[in-house]
Amino acid sequence: MTHKQAIQRNFARRGATYDSHARIQQWMAAELLRGCKEAVLQARTILEVGCGIGTMLERLLDRGLLTRSAYTGIDVEAECIRAAAQRLQGYAARRQSSLTIDSDGTMLFATQTQDVRITFEAADLFVFLEHAPGKSAWDLLVAHAVLDLVDLDTALIDQALGLRAAFHQSGSLE
Ligand SMILES: C[S@@+](CC[C@H](N)C(=O)[O-])C[C@H]1O[C@@H](n2cnc3c(N)ncnc32)[C@H](O)[C@@H]1O
Repeated sequence: MTHKQAIQRNFARRGATYDSHARIQQWMAAELLRGCKEAVLQARTILEVGCGIGTMLERLLDRGLLTRSAYTGIDVEAECIRAAAQRLQGYAARRQSSLTIDSDGTMLFATQTQDVRITFEAADLFVFLEHAPGKSAWDLLVAHAVLDLVDLDTALIDQALGLRAAFHQSGSLE
């Protein structure tokens, strides 16, 4: 098992409680969102790879950065995806916001100013992106605290063409 695989395995085991200990990541995310606010506000379709338990989605909703948009979050760990969907339900309940779930699992989060379609999928980002071009296209890629867990040559070089084909414009948060 490589070092990256060991980190990934530990994350999968502790994913549900990760955010309460991830102080550096929380600070990183806040800084990142401050710097990329305009790019996020302009994006109508957002793909987050390695979304974990959905903390970035919560931050985007909290800051009002998602208004009329569609967000897709993928993670290789099915357990994280389940936790993300559950967490979103708790978040909507606390905010007294409307959250409805379509028969295909798409979640619709709505407030007076927000109308966001949310899809979570358990998938490896490389497999997902291989099949994405031609199926869907996004305005913005979010990958927060993820690239250190994957093979960078594959992620940034082999997948570059697939990524370009999958995105409307080159915008990314890393
Ligand atoms: C350190 S966590 C960060 C989670 C989240 N982005 C955040 O900032 O809280 C890294 C996440 O990337 C996911 N991940 C790692 N390799 C992946 C891959 N090949 N495809 C999809 N997700 C992956 C892990 O399961 C984990 O949820």
